[in-house]
Amino acid sequence: MTQPALLHDASADASAAQRAAFAADVRAGLTHAPQKELLSKYLYDEVGSALFEVITVLPEYGVTRAEERLLTEHAEDIVAHLPHDVTVAELGSGSGRKTRRILEALCKKRPTSYYPIEISRSALQLCRRELGDIERISIVGYERDYLAGLAEVSQNRSKGERLLVLFLGSTIGNFGRLAANRFLREIRSMLAPGDALLLGTDLLKPTPVLVAAYDDSIGVTASFNLNLLARINRELDGDFPLDAFEHVARFNPDARSIEMHLRAKRDVTAHVGAAQLTVSLAAGETIWTESSHKYSADEMPAIADGAGFTCSHQWVEKEWGFAESLLVAK
Ligand code: AVJ
Repeated sequence: MTQPALLHDASADASAAQRAAFAADVRAGLTHAPQKELLSKYLYDEVGSALFEVITVLPEYGVTRAEERLLTEHAEDIVAHLPHDVTVAELGSGSGRKTRRILEALCKKRPTSYYPIEISRSALQLCRRELGDIERISIVGYERDYLAGLAEVSQNRSKGERLLVLFLGSTIGNFGRLAANRFLREIRSMLAPGDALLLGTDLLKPTPVLVAAYDDSIGVTASFNLNLLARINRELDGDFPLDAFEHVARFNPDARSIEMHLRAKRDVTAHVGAAQLTVSLAAGETIWTESSHKYSADEMPAIADGAGFTCSHQWVEKEWGFAESLLVAK
């Protein structure tokens, strides 16, 4: 019998294509008027991913610990509410630390397959190292975009096999509300009725608490943000003077999101060789790099409904304010 592959990796010329796509996105974003912008997914190169791991242990950033408490305390209960015999696919496995609770509770009942889907190969390797010792688990990583990976996992499953999709960590918050709805619909289109999605969302909280979470006192989040320009310098032959930019975190009450920007401290002109781009910023002008939308637990049923799911259960962490919602495909 042949062993299943441990990793479905992207094709050999993927990295050249990825660099070209990065250059095209940088070009589009930095010529966007009136607000220059960069896509938040590019924050997560190896340096950015390592900095984000540091963010998760900062006292000001309660998101990750809140979700870990929630999953640790309620793993058995969550699993009890899932369809039987689920195969697990996770969108953005990260380090795998939070997922451990759910997978352990599942594997205690029966052998379980776990498919982490992640564009970062190093994150996939980390995840395998973190979770590989769970008894009766089988892990196959997919080095893919979320939706492409999920499509493959869904198509490859055997008849009657139920799917549980994990989308944890409030990653959905990076989408605007409209885009989140579209994304949930796309997930739904790959599922069968009765399949489930466990969705983690950070909840609305007082503005000073939110701002501090995204502008910590020792500047890790500032470094995380600035690394995006450093990454453009490294990978796309750019010459952004990093000392001319400062990190800004601000709450947008209309969107109910925290926005991260990079603000030019003086007039700046920079070049990005691989994007054939010269970009100028006036003093005070910003580049918008990320939004983290915040939700209230009671808006989830309507959001679920609009995307073809029923919100069947919720688990809410009250100390920080975080919710895990179980959405079942209608
Ligand atoms: C990984 C997208 C959930 O939005 O809270 C943390 C990223 N950015 N601090 C978030 C992030 C700045 C994080 N997510």
